[in-house]
This record gives sequence, C-alpha cells and structure tokens, in this order.
Amino acid sequence: MPMLGLGTWQNEDPEQCAESVRTALETGYRHIDTAQIYENEAAVGEGIARADVDREEVFLATKIWISNLEPDDVLETARESLDRLGVEYVDLLYVHWPARTYDPEATLEAFSQLYDEGLIENVGVSNFEPEQLEEAIESCDVPILANQVELHPMLPQQELRETCEQHDVELVAYSPLARGAVFDQPEIQEIADKHDASEAQISLAWLREAGVTAIPKATGEAHIRDNWASLALELAQDDIDAIDAIEERSREVDPDFAPWN
Ligand SMILES: NC(=O)c1ccc[n+]([C@@H]2O[C@H](COP(=O)([O-])OP(=O)(O)OC[C@H]3O[C@@H](n4cnc5c(N)ncnc54)[C@H](OP(=O)(O)O)[C@@H]3O)[C@@H](O)[C@H]2O)c1
Repeated sequence: MPMLGLGTWQNEDPEQCAESVRTALETGYRHIDTAQIYENEAAVGEGIARADVDREEVFLATKIWISNLEPDDVLETARESLDRLGVEYVDLLYVHWPARTYDPEATLEAFSQLYDEGLIENVGVSNFEPEQLEEAIESCDVPILANQVELHPMLPQQELRETCEQHDVELVAYSPLARGAVFDQPEIQEIADKHDASEAQISLAWLREAGVTAIPKATGEAHIRDNWASLALELAQDDIDAIDAIEERSREVDPDFAPWN
C-alpha cells in the first residue's frame, strides 16, 4: 500500500473533491481514502477518471458505515460504493468502526465473500483497539491488511503499534496532522524551522519513519504538494526522539460509539 495517501473526509463539494483527487494523482499520489459516510465516493471516482493515471495504478480504499455492517447490507452497499466510485473493484475495504451493526463473524464473512468475488482486493478494519483487532483476525478467513486509526505525535498509539506488528497488520494513520493541532506544537515548530520544512511535513515524515502509512486530507494544490514533499524529508534520530517525547495528548475523533468510550 503506498505510504502516503490522500484523505477526503469533509471534502464535500463534488467539483472541488474531484479536483483534489485529480491534482493528487497528477502530483504522484497513488492512494486515495474515502468512505460511504463522506458522501463523496462519486466525486472521488470522477477525480480518478479525470486524472491522467490508470485506475490500476491507484490504491483506492473505502469504508462500510456502521449502519451497513449486517452481512446483506455489506454485500449490497459495497456494490453501491463501487457503482458510485465507477470502478470494478476497490483495493481495500474497511469496516469503518466496530460499532452498531458490526458482528465479527457475520460482518467479516461478508467481507470475505466480496474478496472471493473479486470486488475487493483486501480487507481492512478501522478504529479497532488491540482486543477487537485480535478478534477480527480470528474471525476473518482473509488476512486483515490494515487497521486505520487516529495516529499523530499527540496520539502515538504505542500499544496498537505493537499489536499490529505482532500480527503483521499495517497501520494507516488518519488525522495525521491532528486536524491542524500539530502545527501549534512547539517541538514540531522547532524541527520544522531546522529543516526549513512545514509542520505538516514533519508530522508526516515522523509517521513514515515509524513505518506508518498516512492519509492527510488536503483540498488545494498547495497543501497537496506540501504533503507530498514530505517524502523527500529525512529526520535525524534526535528529531524523532524529540517528537516521541512530546507529552501532550489529544484525540480529535472521539464519537460515543468508539470502542474506547
Ligand atoms: N477511519 C476513520 O474513522 C477516519 C476518521 C477521520 C479521518 N479519516 C481519514 O483520514 C483523513 C485525514 O484526516 P483528517 O481529515 O481528520 O485530518 P488531517 O489530515 O490531520 O488534517 C486535515 C486538515 O489539515 C489541513 N492541511 C492539510 N495539509 C496541510 C498543509 N500541508 N499545511 C497546512 N494545512 C494542511 C487541511 O486543510 P485543507 O483541506 O484546506 O487542505 C485540513 O484542514 C480524512 O480525510 C479521512 O480520509 C478516517
């Protein structure tokens, strides 16, 4: 899975969203993240169609919302997502949250069926704590490729990193810029000054050095390019140590139905 992707949550205006996706693909991104609940799958598909890049080169991920996790709904709404996206398959289909209609055995059996039918290339989960992740691995016939969770310097997710490593599950960091909160961290500002880089690039480079895929949401070309340029940034070990030592904690996405609540 390409280690830097484009997030699209709240990129709601269809024309703008399609242009963000096209711009990202033409900048070099090959990983796009959407979800049923973002209500922009059609715009994301339009952006992929507009870009001068073959669909096969794009790693496209979407997520099944928590009200659609009963088996029949998984099978039906996954097809609807593919129709909206205008594609024959997605590269990764996530369970968006282990909540509401989620049942490990039944839900993941439906995901396995989609895999067997060739409609999804990989199964993923999102917002799973170590306990739910291990239960999902036990319940699913297909290997779980990735767990997508909030991860950034103020939410380093150490325990989950260890569980993922142990089970060979990739981590995908959502809100990798802490929805803007990393920009105000003095340690990050200092390292950004030192490298003549943006705070966003520092956070993204720190994630990459930790082996974590990141999917920052960016709308316009300037942010899309700024984040892409993080791939050329190399942090020194003392930069990484300074970021690891940040003590402030913040969780930006925290609904009542989250497994940790
Ligand atoms: N699985 C889940 O439950 C879940 C939950 C949350 C998010 N996600 C996924 O993760 C993606 C990213 O997370 P997020 O959208 O919550 O937050 P984020 O990526 O941490 O932050 C996005 C914000 O940072 C701004 N930004 C981006 N690049 C910038 C740059 N280089 N300089 C300055 N500002 C910059 C964006 O502005 P502009 O838009 O104006 O560029 C936007 O306001 C989402 O879009 C979604 O795909 C998944």
